[in-house]
Amino acid sequence: QDEGYQKTFKNCAELVPTLPRSKGWWLDELFQYQGFWMSSFPIRGSMLINDHFKPRPTDIIVATSPKCGTTWLRALVFSIINRAAFDFNDHPLRKLNPQELLPSPRLLSTHIPYSLFPKRMTDDTSACRFVYICRDPKDVLVSKWHFSNKLRPKEVPPLSLEEAFDLFCKGVSHYGPFWDHVLGYWKASVESPKKVLFLTYEDVKKEPLGCVRKVAEFLGVPFSQEEENRKTVEEIVKLCSFESLSNLDVNQSVAKRSERPVSNSDFFRKGEVGDWVNHLSPEMVEKMNQITEQKLQGIGFNF
Ligand code: A3P
Repeated sequence: QDEGYQKTFKNCAELVPTLPRSKGWWLDELFQYQGFWMSSFPIRGSMLINDHFKPRPTDIIVATSPKCGTTWLRALVFSIINRAAFDFNDHPLRKLNPQELLPSPRLLSTHIPYSLFPKRMTDDTSACRFVYICRDPKDVLVSKWHFSNKLRPKEVPPLSLEEAFDLFCKGVSHYGPFWDHVLGYWKASVESPKKVLFLTYEDVKKEPLGCVRKVAEFLGVPFSQEEENRKTVEEIVKLCSFESLSNLDVNQSVAKRSERPVSNSDFFRKGEVGDWVNHLSPEMVEKMNQITEQKLQGIGFNF
C-alpha cells in the first residue's frame, strides 16, 4: 500500500514541473492539469484518487467549484443524512465548522472536476453519488477575490479586483476554467441523473425547503409525512442558514490551524445573491456574461 502511494507521489513530483504554470491568487502557483488549473497539492490528491481510492456504494460526494457554497451544502447534506441521530438543539453543527464534520456514511467533499474522477466512480455501475452546487460566476469571482485577499500574506500587496477578474476570465482560478467545471457536472447530471444532482446557490437561496427535499430524495432518504409534520425540513434549513451558522462561536473563531491557512470565520462573508453589483463595473459584467453565454450556449442552463 505504502509503496503504491510512494509511486503516485513520485509520478506527481515528476509530472508537475512539466505542466503549464501561472501565478496563483495568493502565493501559490497554479498548474494546468488535464484541462484545469490547480495547485500541486490537489493534483496529487487527484492522482491518489485515480490510483488508490476505493469508492463505497454509500459514498456521498459534495462537489463544488470553490466559493459556490461548499460550506452550506456540506452542512445541509450532513444534517439531512444524520437527521435521526441528533437533536437539532444539541447538534454537532453547533460545535464544529461544517468543514470538520466526520463522515457518516462517508460524506466527502471535493473541488475536483468531474472528468478527473476515475471511471470506477463515474460510470453508472458504481453507486457513489455526487451532489454538486454552482453559482453565478460574478458572485463567485467577488467571493473568491475577498477570500484570496484574506489568504495573502500581509507582506504582499492585495490582489486587485481587475487582476482577479482577468485571471478568472482566462480560466486561471483554482479548479478553473470555472465554466468547464460547471459543464462537466451539468452534462453528467443530464446523462446520469441518479448519480449527479446539480444545484445552484441561487436556487437553494430561493427555495431552500424544496432543495433540501430534493437532496434527501436523491440520496434515497426522503422525508416521511411524520417528519414533514414535525417540520424537520424547516429545522434543517434554519440550522444551516447563513445567519445561524455564521453566528455560532465555532464559526466566529479567527484561529487558524496549521494545516489550513484560513479560519472558520473566513468561510462566511455575506452569503447573498448578487453582491457583484457592489463591485463589478458595467464592462466587467458584460464581459463575464458574454463568456458565460458562450460557454454554456445551448445546454439548457444559465445563471
Ligand atoms: P460570499 O463571499 O458571497 O458571502 P464556499 O463554502 O464554497 O467556500 O463558499 C463561500 C461562500 O458561501 C461565501 O459567499 C459565504 O459567505 C457563503 N456561505 C457560507 N455559508 C453559507 C450558508 N450557510 N448559507 C449561504 N451562504 C453561505
